[in-house]
Amino acid sequence: MRRPIIAGNWKMHKTVGEAVEFVRSLLTALRDVEGVEVVVCPPAVALKSVGDLLKGSAIGLGAQNMHWEEQGPFTGEISPKMLVDVGCRYVILGHSERRQHFGESDAAVNKKVHAALRWGLIPIVCVGERLEERQAGRTDAVIQTQLKESLAGLDSQEMARVVIAYEPVWAIGTGLPATGEEANRVSGLIRRTLAEWFGEGTAQQVRIQYGGSVSPQNISEFLAQQEIDGALVGGASLHLESFSTIVRAACRKASSSS
Ligand code: PGA
Repeated sequence: MRRPIIAGNWKMHKTVGEAVEFVRSLLTALRDVEGVEVVVCPPAVALKSVGDLLKGSAIGLGAQNMHWEEQGPFTGEISPKMLVDVGCRYVILGHSERRQHFGESDAAVNKKVHAALRWGLIPIVCVGERLEERQAGRTDAVIQTQLKESLAGLDSQEMARVVIAYEPVWAIGTGLPATGEEANRVSGLIRRTLAEWFGEGTAQQVRIQYGGSVSPQNISEFLAQQEIDGALVGGASLHLESFSTIVRAACRKASSSS
């Protein structure tokens, strides 16, 4: 049984003060949550303060990006060592906004995935097709290429620790999510592809999240799908009420299937 994982990607939102206040409330709101891995991914400047607050709690800390080197002349970048130092256990890699606005390639994501695993971080690797790719009937090919290139060189043990987030780019921040059925279809394709490369046992261990306009209203539709093990939540992770409702829906899934 795969443990559901709900991660909040705050993107470029909340000052340190706002982040701390939010996480204090979240810790209270989610204090009795069980069976679900909950992760918050604040902006880099808030990681240390939020990490200090989360110490010893059941909520994990994640970063939204990192460089693959431990240190060096990379102005503006943050290393895996620095993330571990402030208490991160997760890191989102290859988010479509990084690919689109910052030219991040699958090859760069691949270096980051290896570095994250070397440092004991759990990578949340994002894949997803753009609207024109979907319209051209290229969804499956795009996903498979992203997987192949970003996961190159991993062994099965490493792969089992990776979380994949299926995030169709056209669904991100648009209020137009994929249907549960379609998200499940692509997640099934992801799992079958991983089974081919890493073996069925490993593929069955990998958690696959859906991301793209996830809300308290639609979360249950995604969690009801067999291949979907949680969500990467953007906009709805910024508000206490909506994020807690999403986490609670995942708790219900965890307790009904345990
Ligand atoms: P959204 O973002 O939930 O606001 O669509 C999801 C994401 O970008 O991870």
